[in-house]
Amino acid sequence: MKNYDQLIDSALVELESCETLISLEELRLEYFGKNGEVTSILKSLSKLSEKDKKEVGKKFNLFKQNFFKNLEKKKNIIEQSQIEEKLQKEKIDISLPTREEEKLNSKIHPITHTANEIISILGSMGLNYEEGPDVENDFYNFTALNIPENHPAREMHDTFYIENNLEKLVLRTHTSPVQIRNLQKKKFPLRIFAPGRTYRCDSDITHTPMFHQVEGLVVDHSVTFANLKWFLEKFCKTFFDNEKLKLRFRPSYFPFTEPSAEVDVNCSITSGKIILGEGDKWMEILGCGMVHPNVLKMSGVDDDQLKGFAFGMGIERLSMLKYGMPDLRDFYDSNINWLSHYGFSFLETTDLSWR
Ligand code: PHE
Repeated sequence: MKNYDQLIDSALVELESCETLISLEELRLEYFGKNGEVTSILKSLSKLSEKDKKEVGKKFNLFKQNFFKNLEKKKNIIEQSQIEEKLQKEKIDISLPTREEEKLNSKIHPITHTANEIISILGSMGLNYEEGPDVENDFYNFTALNIPENHPAREMHDTFYIENNLEKLVLRTHTSPVQIRNLQKKKFPLRIFAPGRTYRCDSDITHTPMFHQVEGLVVDHSVTFANLKWFLEKFCKTFFDNEKLKLRFRPSYFPFTEPSAEVDVNCSITSGKIILGEGDKWMEILGCGMVHPNVLKMSGVDDDQLKGFAFGMGIERLSMLKYGMPDLRDFYDSNINWLSHYGFSFLETTDLSWR
């Protein structure tokens, strides 16, 4: 019987000296490919005696295991060093100053600009800025907002769930969980707004998987729907800078408000162009209502003593209506041409504290 030890040893030595993924693959083919050396030895095994067959078979099985184990290891080492080499080459010097012309051409993203406008208006109307986490648990995103498990309203939100064994986590589908986090503080009167990122598993001309909302919540002893109406009228007229703007409160349904309404503003649409504050067409801009007693109860607030109004609006939608972008998806395409067209100069945007 032939002694195969030399073949095996030299294959393993060769493997060790490979320095590229290509040479590794060539080596694999040389031994284990269709016409590889080991493949043909194994093919001719049938010609051997029973005893030799067993011995050679065993030897090559062991060799095969070793060979592929080492091959995997070697592959990882080579890939790792390729990554490191690439990182070395692509090192960016972040301490370099920007070029003067870039400073002049750079623009503020319309979402940042619009959020800043909303923040300064709501702030000047007496609401305090609050934030909540993007990753929420099931209680804050749904249950405490009067959306129990198996409630059909959960289907209204195409939710991103996060795998976790301890508790049910989601990417918040709206900014409303911030209502609960603030109600739980039990400091009244409560007057807050909370802008931030929200997530739904959806993508088309009017939906992106990540978008922005602003939540508003006012809770006190005698808050009424009339207060809500006054507040939103004042906000919309200021935001769209149009005193003639008309608002329509259309009865609607949200599990966490009762009664609930969607608010439309009047507009005209001529050859696809929307002009707000004129004409007799209506464009939906936000959702609102009186805080549902169950929501107050679930946050430990006495719903006999306290009443509240809440509203939620999409920042992208407000931005598109005010500044005329036709497609929501463009906001997140990082297209420099789009940005330099729709973006804002530093002088137009004063408050940059919001990210
Ligand atoms: N959370 C609702 C939504 O995402 C909006 C809303 C907020 C409605 C507050 C009423 C009150 O559609």
